Amino acid sequence: MNIMRINYTNVGIIFSLVVVLYIFYKLSHSSSERNPLPASVTPRTSNKLPTESSIDLKSLASIAKGGLFDVSLRQAQETIEALQKQLAEAEVSRDTVQKKDMETVKRKFSGHKLVHLDLKGAPTKMTFLIQVLPYFKKWGATGLLVEYEDMFPYKAEYEVLQAKNSYSEAEIKQLLETAAANDLIIIPLVQTFGHLEFVLKHKEFAYLRETEHYTNSLCPNNKDSVPMVIELIDQVLALHPGLQWFHIGGDEVWNLKTCPVCLKDARNKSELFVHHMKPILKHLQGKKVTPIMWDDMMRYWPLEYLKELGPLVEPMVWAYRSDLTGYFPPDMWQRYGKAFKKIWAASAFKGATHPWSNFVPIGFHVQNNLYWLDIISKLPSTLEVNGVALTGWSRYDHYATLCELLPAALPSLAFCLGALSEGYMDEELKKVIAKGLGLPETFPLNVERFNSK
Ligand SMILES: *[C@@H]1O[C@H](CO)[C@@H](O)[C@H](O)[C@H]1NC(C)=O
Repeated sequence: MNIMRINYTNVGIIFSLVVVLYIFYKLSHSSSERNPLPASVTPRTSNKLPTESSIDLKSLASIAKGGLFDVSLRQAQETIEALQKQLAEAEVSRDTVQKKDMETVKRKFSGHKLVHLDLKGAPTKMTFLIQVLPYFKKWGATGLLVEYEDMFPYKAEYEVLQAKNSYSEAEIKQLLETAAANDLIIIPLVQTFGHLEFVLKHKEFAYLRETEHYTNSLCPNNKDSVPMVIELIDQVLALHPGLQWFHIGGDEVWNLKTCPVCLKDARNKSELFVHHMKPILKHLQGKKVTPIMWDDMMRYWPLEYLKELGPLVEPMVWAYRSDLTGYFPPDMWQRYGKAFKKIWAASAFKGATHPWSNFVPIGFHVQNNLYWLDIISKLPSTLEVNGVALTGWSRYDHYATLCELLPAALPSLAFCLGALSEGYMDEELKKVIAKGLGLPETFPLNVERFNSK
């Protein structure tokens, strides 16, 4: 009897084991067939959790000890608990990241927010431009920084500078009227030293080049150089009555002090730069217009030398990276604080990642603008920031390939202006701006695909 009973029990155990194993086998197979996760949604943490096959192995191992269902249930429960814990942790860390972002960056910027129109590449038709101005205003802009380059209707001996599609005087008046109607100030930009390809490429002006084979820079030792750029400025001023500011460019004078005459000149590069710029700055001051100039040629100048230009100009300090940690010389802001009363900053909303970029990495530019708010909040108290110009480069120079076009960058402009005006960017603000643009709430700001090298 004893033996018989043991035999019956054994048979029962073996039978139920076979049934259970069969069910496990079917379940594990059907679930992996019915629920194939696309690679992109496969949880990264899966290697930390018991996988289906590891559960099976453990189950088999535990068969000898009996209580198979108990063990499986416990394991399932443990798995669920582990997942719940991970989920909770993920939510907590997401919340703290958002809170941290808000705390560190919430710094509304009340100065000017200028939209830079780089018309030296794919200039839009005036009919398009005047239609988007009300949106610039709505998104938070207070003005335009207009770099006409060859799109300005230069006259008389400078008529040759006009591009075939340059704007007419009537079109520029229309731009000014629409800007005024939308409460947007205008600051024209005319290059006066480097980046003058649109002038120096013409045979009439080739004699003013610093380097015979390069068309970018003027020779500061040619007596016609300053009168030439002053004539360009005056023609632009004549079409823009009542200006408060005028931007004279002045960045990236790569070829400074390379021609035979300049090489023999005893003055160093900074001195030649000041020699060329000073009469231009004074000319504008004489017309009661405050000159603005890109700052990069002066970044390493000692304070004593910065003071040469201090009373004459409001520098515009530019930087377009998403992370500006260590970007400027360490003591630059202290020197600028002692040399200048007012400055401008320049961020970017397009055209600052690659010369051939065909896609606007919005998150990158939003970060850049937020980083500027961070810098501005830590500036020496003596330094007043008049405004931020959001640059939108169309090509890196006159001959370069086109980068992102203005129409494709309008969402980026809206998000960057929103970030500057509000002082932060989070999911809620992103949703509001996306909705205003007619984009889905889920619209992603951080698109890396076209941004990576
Ligand atoms: C050029 O000379 C001035 C003094 O006249 C000096 O302050 C400045 O540091 C010099 N710049 C360079 C680049 O050597």
